[in-house]
Parts: sequence; C-alpha cells; structure tokens
Amino acid sequence: MKQFFSIDDVDDLKSLIQEGLEVKKNPFKEKGSIRNKSICLLFLNPSLRTRLSSQRAAQNLGVDVTVFDVGAGGWQLEFADGAVMNGNKAEHVKEAAQVIGSYFDLVAIRAFAKLEDRESDYSEQVLSQFLKHCPVPVVNLESSTRHPLQAFADLITIETHKKIEKPKVVLTWAPHPRALPQAVANSFSLWTQKAEYDLTITHPEGYELAPEFSGNAHIEYDQEKAFEGADFIYAKNWSSYSDYGKILSEDKNWMVDEAKMNLTNDAKFMHCLPVRRNVVVSDAVIDSANSLVIEEATNRIVSAQTIFNKILKNE
Ligand code: CP
Repeated sequence: MKQFFSIDDVDDLKSLIQEGLEVKKNPFKEKGSIRNKSICLLFLNPSLRTRLSSQRAAQNLGVDVTVFDVGAGGWQLEFADGAVMNGNKAEHVKEAAQVIGSYFDLVAIRAFAKLEDRESDYSEQVLSQFLKHCPVPVVNLESSTRHPLQAFADLITIETHKKIEKPKVVLTWAPHPRALPQAVANSFSLWTQKAEYDLTITHPEGYELAPEFSGNAHIEYDQEKAFEGADFIYAKNWSSYSDYGKILSEDKNWMVDEAKMNLTNDAKFMHCLPVRRNVVVSDAVIDSANSLVIEEATNRIVSAQTIFNKILKNE
C-alpha cells in the first residue's frame, strides 16, 4: 500500500478486513518486524480517539511516533497555489510537506472541512497538497470529505458481531447543536456498500449526501420505517450537502431511543464518538448491552495498526 487517503487505496477489502481481525486477535505479532521507521501524526483539528489510537497502533508495531498540533506551536500554513503570502500564514504547505516528509517515513494528517465553501472542501485541498508534495506515504486521519480509518474500524466491528453474511445496516442522521462535516457518513456509506452490506440511509429531506458517496444505498426519509428489521443502527449527525454546511433541522424526534431500537432485529447500536448523549442517542440505548461504541473506538487501534503496517512494509 502506497498511501491511505480513501477506499480507492484498498485493493481487496475482504483481505484487509481479515488482516484487521488478525491484528485484533494478536496486536503484538508484528512488534519489532519494522525497524528504524517513524510516523508523524499531524493535527489541524482536535481529536481524542484518532490521536491516541494512532499512537497506540505505532507503539504496538514498535515504530517511533511523533504528534504535532499544527495550530498550537507550528506556523500557520498556506495551502493555496500562487498565494501572495503577505497575511498571517508564514509557511506554505509546499515546503512544510517536504520538510516533514524528510524527517519521517509516514505522515498522517487530520484536516476537517471548514463548511464554508463546498467546492473548496470537496476538492480536499489540505490532503491533496500533502499527497502532492510530501515525499513519503500519507494517511488520512479525517479529511474534509472522508474518515477511512473510522470506516475500516466500523467494518471490523460489524464483522465481529454480524449474524448473517449481508446484515441490514442503517445509517441514521440524528440532531446536533453544531454543524458537522459529512466525512464520517460519506466513508461509512462507501465502505459498507463495498462490503456488500444491505445499507439504508435515513435522514430528513435536505440532508442527502453527495451522490458519489450515497451511491446505491436505499434512501428512506421515514426513520421508523428504516429501522424495521435492522441488524445495525449507526447514528451520526451531518450538516446539509445541498445547502452546504447548514443545519436544516433540529427535530428532536430523530434522536435514537429505545422505542426506535425496538423496531429493529435486536440491532447493535454504533456511533463513531464523540457523541452528545440525549441529543443524538438516549442514555438507555448507548448504555445498553447492544451498544458497540466502546468496542468500535477500541477498533480504531486495529484499523490504524493494520494500515501503518501495510504502508511501512510496502505490502
Ligand atoms: N471518531 C473519531 O475520529 O474521534 P476523534 O475525533 O476523537 O478522533
């Protein structure tokens, strides 16, 4: 593997999931097999899981890891080609990416959507610039439109718990007080369809994902109808793609609660975290025996470790 920006960098998803399940069973099997390699984790935005699970993943492999918060200690970076840099951005990504790449063997980056300009966010300016200028492999730790390490961890979680080959998986929009990017929903939709699960996406009108991400998923505007017979419920808020970055609905009726979970086939509950309790999901659901949210977060070590190992060994 040469880079991990999106699902397009995965040759064989079934094999990748099997590798992930092996890592989950035996996390220290590869420790010491990679010598004298180092990883830099670059954060332009906050994180709990991605930051800590990526560090654990590198440590499980015996690889040196450095975390750099670009906004707290680094120069403000310019990403626009041809920019006249007479403002407050002191360094261009063209130099920064080459310098960082000269210090490390793999660079992983988190850069969220700004939700101001759809074209700019969907052009993936930050990740594209690193992919172009960084001389070593680049890994996506959540970009403007994608969160592939999360989606890979989600698939490992579903594979561990599914009772039938192609479970009914429902991605449900849920309310949130702040406008959030579409990245997690986009990647979840792409990865679950590639895994050939039976995917339904449910949301209020106006929250349709970009067509290249919703793909052939069944879209159902009636949340209760969508939940009927579901094996997995994956809750997530996202802001509007069509009315870009806007909150169009704060309808509290879309919160996932026990009454809705009772419509399912005893479904497992999933969320990538962090989650707003009693806004996105009720305490009763997230604290229930069917909630997989902690295992899902733990599997973030597995997804990062599997990808770092493949890239550093060029497998
Ligand atoms: N799920 C996830 O990416 O969590 P963090 O934002 O805390 O890294």
